[in-house]
Amino acid sequence: MNIYTKILKNNSDLLDTNPSIYFAPGRVNLIGEHVDYNGGNVFPTAINLGTYAFVTKRSDKEFHLISENFRQIGKKIVTTDTLDYKKERSWANFFSGMLKALLSKNLKITHGLNIVVYGTLPNSSGLSSSASLELLIGVLLKDQYDLDISQLELVKTALDVENKYIGVNCGIMDQFAIGMSKKDYAIYLNTDTLSYDLVPLILGEYTLVIANTNKKRALANSKYNERRNECETGLDILNSAGANIKYLCQLNSDEFAIMSSNIKDNTIRRRVKHIVTEGDRTKLAVTALKSKNLKTFGDLINLSHDSLKNDYEVSCLELDTLVDSFRKHGSIGARMTGAGFGGCVIALIETKESSNIINKVKDEYQNKIGYNADFYKCYTSDGARKITKEEL
Ligand code: GLA
Repeated sequence: MNIYTKILKNNSDLLDTNPSIYFAPGRVNLIGEHVDYNGGNVFPTAINLGTYAFVTKRSDKEFHLISENFRQIGKKIVTTDTLDYKKERSWANFFSGMLKALLSKNLKITHGLNIVVYGTLPNSSGLSSSASLELLIGVLLKDQYDLDISQLELVKTALDVENKYIGVNCGIMDQFAIGMSKKDYAIYLNTDTLSYDLVPLILGEYTLVIANTNKKRALANSKYNERRNECETGLDILNSAGANIKYLCQLNSDEFAIMSSNIKDNTIRRRVKHIVTEGDRTKLAVTALKSKNLKTFGDLINLSHDSLKNDYEVSCLELDTLVDSFRKHGSIGARMTGAGFGGCVIALIETKESSNIINKVKDEYQNKIGYNADFYKCYTSDGARKITKEEL
C-alpha cells in the first residue's frame, strides 16, 4: 500500500479523497558546524526524508491534527482562542506556534483545517525534524489562506517560533536549508547577511551516506546552550583585547593565532579555535567541491569532525565509532553532522563499494555499541512546498 492510500485509509474520518499535500525535507550539514550562531558560513543540503501534511478544509474554524507517527497521542484540536504553548499539546505546539506567528503577519483564517502529518525522518536524529515540521506548517498555512509572505520570511518566522515559542536557542541553518534548498544543490549560506550561493552537489564516483547512531540525545539541548555561552565568553574576551568584532567568524585562523593567548581558559580557547578554523574549512571545502576536488573536500570533512571531537567536544563514542569505521573502510571524508551528542554521521564513500562498506560499518558498530545504526543513501531535495499525489 502506498503512503497516500495508507494515510487516507487510516484517517478516513478526517480526510476525503482529495487532500492537498505538502512536503518539507530534513537536512544534513556537509560542513560548517556550530558556526551559524557565530556569524559563519554553513553548507547544508535538504534531503529526501522529511515531513508530509495531508490537508482538507473544515466548515468551522477549528484545526484538527493527527500525527501518523504518534497515533497513540490521538487527535489534537487547536483553536485561535488558546494559541499559547501548552505541554499537553505535544507535537501540535509546532502548529499552534506557527499559526500564532503567522496571524501576527496578517494571516486571515477563513476556514478550519483537518491535518494529518506523516514523517519519514527518524526523530531526535539531528536531521532537523522540528524545522521540517515548522516549515511544513508554514507552507501549508500560506497556501490555504493565500498569505502574501516570501519563503525567506517563512524561514525567519520558523526560526522565531523555534527560539521563542518552542524554546530551543538554535541558529538559522536548519530552517534556511529546509525552506530554501534546491534538488541537486547544497546551500553555501552566510548566516550573518543571509546571502547564499547554490552549489551543485556533484560527487562523481562517490555517494553521500547518512548513518544514524540511534543514540538518544538526552543532554543535547543544555550542552548546546553551554557551547553558545562559551562562544560568547570567547567573543567578549577577544573584544576586550581589541578585536572589535560582532561575531567570532569574522576572524580567520591566522588572525586568531595572533590573539589566542588573550584567552587564558584552555576550554574557551579550544571552543573559539574550532569556530574560527571551521569558518576557514568551510570556505575551502566549497572551493574544493566547486573545482571537483573531492579528495580535498573529504579531507576538510575529516578535519571538521576531529575539531568537533577534540576542541568543541560535541561528539560522542557512538558518532566517533561510526566515523572511525567509515574511514577505516575507505571513506574519503566522514564526520558528525548537526549539533552532536548523538544523531547522525555523513560519509563520502565510493559508490561501487558502498554496500560493502556500509555492511562492514554496520557490523563494527553493532559489535562495539551493542545496538544497530541505520544507514541511508542521501538524495537532495527541493525546499518545503506543496506537492502532487504523483510526487509521493
Ligand atoms: C543544530 C542547530 C543549528 C546549528 C547546528 C550545529 O542543528 O539547530 O542551528 O547550530 O546544530 O551546526
